[in-house]
Formats: sequence, structure tokens, C-alpha cells
Amino acid sequence: MDLIFKERTYMKAAICTSYGSPEVLQIQEILKPIPKDSEILVKIMASAVNSGDVRVRSLNVKGILKVIMRLVLGISKPRKPVLGTVFSGVVESIGSKVSKFKVGNKVFGMTGFSFGTHTEYIAINQNNNILEMPQNASFEDAASIVFGGQTALYYLSKSKIAYKKNAKVLILGATGSVGSAAVQIAKYYNAHVTAVCSADGEKMVSELGVTDVILYDKQDFSQHSGRFDIIFDAVGKYSKKQCRHLLNSSGVYVSVSIGYASENIKQLQQLKEMFEKLQIWSGLYLAVFFVIHVGAVMVGRVVLQLDTNFYFGAAGINAFPFNLFFIPYYTLAILSFFAHIASIHAQKMKIRILRITPSIQSFIIICIGTVVMMIVFYGLTNKFSGVSIPKEYQILIGK
Ligand SMILES: NC(=O)c1ccc[n+]([C@@H]2O[C@H](COP(=O)([O-])OP(=O)(O)OC[C@H]3O[C@@H](n4cnc5c(N)ncnc54)[C@H](OP(=O)(O)O)[C@@H]3O)[C@@H](O)[C@H]2O)c1
Repeated sequence: MDLIFKERTYMKAAICTSYGSPEVLQIQEILKPIPKDSEILVKIMASAVNSGDVRVRSLNVKGILKVIMRLVLGISKPRKPVLGTVFSGVVESIGSKVSKFKVGNKVFGMTGFSFGTHTEYIAINQNNNILEMPQNASFEDAASIVFGGQTALYYLSKSKIAYKKNAKVLILGATGSVGSAAVQIAKYYNAHVTAVCSADGEKMVSELGVTDVILYDKQDFSQHSGRFDIIFDAVGKYSKKQCRHLLNSSGVYVSVSIGYASENIKQLQQLKEMFEKLQIWSGLYLAVFFVIHVGAVMVGRVVLQLDTNFYFGAAGINAFPFNLFFIPYYTLAILSFFAHIASIHAQKMKIRILRITPSIQSFIIICIGTVVMMIVFYGLTNKFSGVSIPKEYQILIGK
């Protein structure tokens, strides 16, 4: 016993010392867990504070629910003092009966009512709600998609979104953890999304690709003229009565205020696959875009001996003054290609190279990439016969 005690080490954790405002949270040292036979020990790299943590910490509920929550969670403070339900991290050690994970695996998951992720390490059974992280996800990406993602998947699967072709979906509260995940999942299923959010959230929602946005602080969404196949109240502030007239005859209403979203490994697997597919599609789109453009230039200039690319040539706009447009056009295309690569680099790169910060590295990628590509491009299409200013452009330098 003495030996075990001496071997135990400590870790930092955010401890909820009583119910109340965020100040009740204190960083304290607690014992680092030791994984049991079927458990893995995860070094937590990222976690998130979600609405569930806020509700438990503040006990911000009304009436009899407050009494029930105290009985369930703890009378004067949470019985499980380390809050946090989501995590991503690296497997540091495994129990003797663990077969699903190896040391060094990057994993993500959700502990639900067991809480305990606002700390440095967690010991968790290998069969719980935990999986290897999506490829290409950062630790922050992986930890932040779980809570809203699993909840949104639970409710949207109740609405049978996967079986409704091109469904029209209204998402109320589209900027929250649940709502923003619901927007992305609905779009994944090719739904047409209309989002309800505040004016402050408009930019974020449009970045998620939503074009139909109703600002609840400026407009009354219930006056909308459209009819929807699915209405998802992802904030729990709207009743079915308020929405009924916006549903079409077979429309479905689901709300976070009805029932409890139970999380399971199947949802986590789905989230992982969705995340990976979205990344692949975005990369594939960029690659196809680039190949088509390079192909059009090579066919136009090298094969057909035109002074332009194939599709400008085919459209008959390859002569002055239209050709003045080509160089800025391709400069912009190449620039946007490298801007895309550089922005991914800025997000994923965590270390300095030769003391250069990731954001400066990204800037260098844009500059060098664009200049090198333009030289290669120009050289290829002019058969490397030297770089000279095309005669139509000489008017720009006063010749
Ligand atoms: N049943 C379950 O199992 C379950 C699971 C998870 C969450 N929930 C519940 O679901 C709700 C949302 O959770 P969350 O984690 O997504 O919360 P969150 O991240 O805090 O987001 C709430 C969002 O709602 C928006 N909002 C506030 N009032 C609104 C209104 N009147 N109309 C439209 N949008 C409004 C807020 O944006 P603005 O401030 O810009 O308006 C905010 O973006 C919470 O009540 C939570 O308790 C239930």
C-alpha cells in the first residue's frame, strides 16, 4: 500500500468547488489516474466547455428541477468535481486487457454524465464512447465536434434526415454547439438549410455555407413563407406550437428540450467519417479545379497555339483587350490555391521552423508558391523561351 502511494503522481484539474458563477472553478492538484485492466490512460490535449458543464456548474434550472439536480449531482456541490464531457488526446498507457488501442494513438470521445475531462489525464474503458481521431483533425477540432455533433446526430436521425432527399430544414439556434453541428450534418445530407440566429451569428452561419438566414433579433421566423420537411430547435427555446404552421404535411419537429440525447460509439464513428469525407472533398475539389485550369492553358497555348487558354479561345475572346485579363486571372487563381494550402498550414502547424512562426511560414508558402508556379506556368506555355512581356501588356508600361 505504501509502495502504491509513493508511485502515484499528481495532475492539475479544474475543480468545481460549489454551484455558482465561473469563479467557483479552481485549478487544483488531484491524483493522476492509473488505468485498470480494460482502461486506457489518455493525456488530454484539448477539451471544451459546453452548455452541459455550464448548466451543472451554475445549477441554472427552474423549480423542482433544481432539487432533482442537487439530488442527482450532489447537494451542495457536484459529487464529480471535475467537469467536462469531451476530450481529445494521446493514449499514454493501456491496461493488460486492452486490445482496441495502442500507446500513442490519437483519440477523441465523450464521457457524458461521468464528466472528468477538464484535467490533464483521464482513465477510460476501451469500450466507452471513444475512438481514434479523424485523420487530419487537430486536437481542437476533434474535441469541439463531439458534444454538439453527437447531440445533433441524435435528433437529426430521429427526424430521419438521411432518408429525406434534398430535405428543407429549418435550424433554430444555428450558431450554438448543437446548432452549428446540425447545419453541417444537414448539409452533408444535401438538405437545404434555413438558419435562425442572432445578427451577431450571421457571419458564422454564412461561413458554414447557409444562404437563407433569419435573424431572430430583427425578424420573426414564424412569419416565414416557406414550408419545411424538418424543423430542429437546437436551442430549446421554441415550442412545436410556434413551428407547426411552417411544417409541410409530412414534416417533423425535433427539439433539444424533448428527451435526452444519449451518446453512443456509432454516432462518434459517423462524426469521424463525416469529418474525414468533408476534408477529402475539399481537397479533391481543389485538385480538380487546378487540373482543369492547367489543362485548359496547356491545350490552348501549347496544342492549339492560341494566345490564351482553351475555353477563352473556344469562346472567341482571346484577342486584345480580353487577353489583358488573363495574367491577373491566373495570378489570382494560383494565389487562391496557395492561400488555401497556407491557411491549412497555419491551422495545423504548431511548431516554429528555424524560429519562424507558423503564420509567417504560411505567408512564405503563399509568396514562394505563387511566384514559382507563375514562372513554371509561363515557362511551360512559352516553351521556356525566356520571360518577356506580351506585346498587349506593353501599353501598361507606356510602350
Ligand atoms: N437534450 C439533450 O440531450 C441536450 C444535449 C445538449 C444540449 N442540450 C441543450 O441544447 C441547448 C443548446 O446547447 P448548445 O450546447 O448548442 O448551447 P450553446 O453552444 O450555448 O449555444 C446556444 C446558441 O443559441 C443561440 N440562441 C440563444 N437564444 C436564441 C434564440 N432565441 N433563437 C435562436 N438562437 C438562440 C445562441 O446564439 P446567440 O447568443 O447569438 O443568439 C447560441 O449560439 C441548451 O439549452 C442545452 O441545454 C440538450
